[in-house]
Amino acid sequence: MKVAILSGSVYGTAEEVARHAEKLLQDAGFQAWHNPRASLADVQAFAPQAFLVVTATTGMGELPDNLQPLYFAIRDHLPAWSGLPGGVIALGDASYGDTYCGGGELVRELYAELGVREVLAMLRLDASESVTPETDAEPWLAEFMAALNA
Ligand SMILES: Cc1cc2nc3c(=O)[nH]c(=O)nc-3n(C[C@H](O)[C@H](O)[C@H](O)COP(=O)(O)O)c2cc1C
Repeated sequence: MKVAILSGSVYGTAEEVARHAEKLLQDAGFQAWHNPRASLADVQAFAPQAFLVVTATTGMGELPDNLQPLYFAIRDHLPAWSGLPGGVIALGDASYGDTYCGGGELVRELYAELGVREVLAMLRLDASESVTPETDAEPWLAEFMAALNA
């Protein structure tokens, strides 16, 4: 199964988590493809069968600058991805209160518009609680892969 992994990151943490996810998915036999600067054309050329978005939150609940152009391109064009499975890993900081993991929530809204099926509840990684987001994501990734295989 071809899994497109898209990431939004300011300081690189989300990108590291996405790279780790790419490796784990590949080790499990998925055709995982991570491009932190993907355009909509790049994603469409890959012809994904599933999605994993790993994104930090910046500003007041906003998506990082490196994911925004792709996010808006997808929202403008609404590609025919309805019914495909997807998951979201959101990096944030609970001390931001209401905007905690807001970037991930924006991706969930986009999934809903597209008809992408969230196969697992969004994972929230809280930077105020843990400094090991890659390993913290592993149990969730195992469940995500099991859901894709189901
Ligand atoms: C300027 C700034 C604004 C932020 N705004 C939010 C926010 O609104 N909500 C949230 O949950 N986290 C917020 N964060 C926390 C980051 O999302 C979190 O530290 C994340 O792990 C950063 O990942 P990155 O290294 O991939 O950029 C903010 C961090 C910074 C530096």
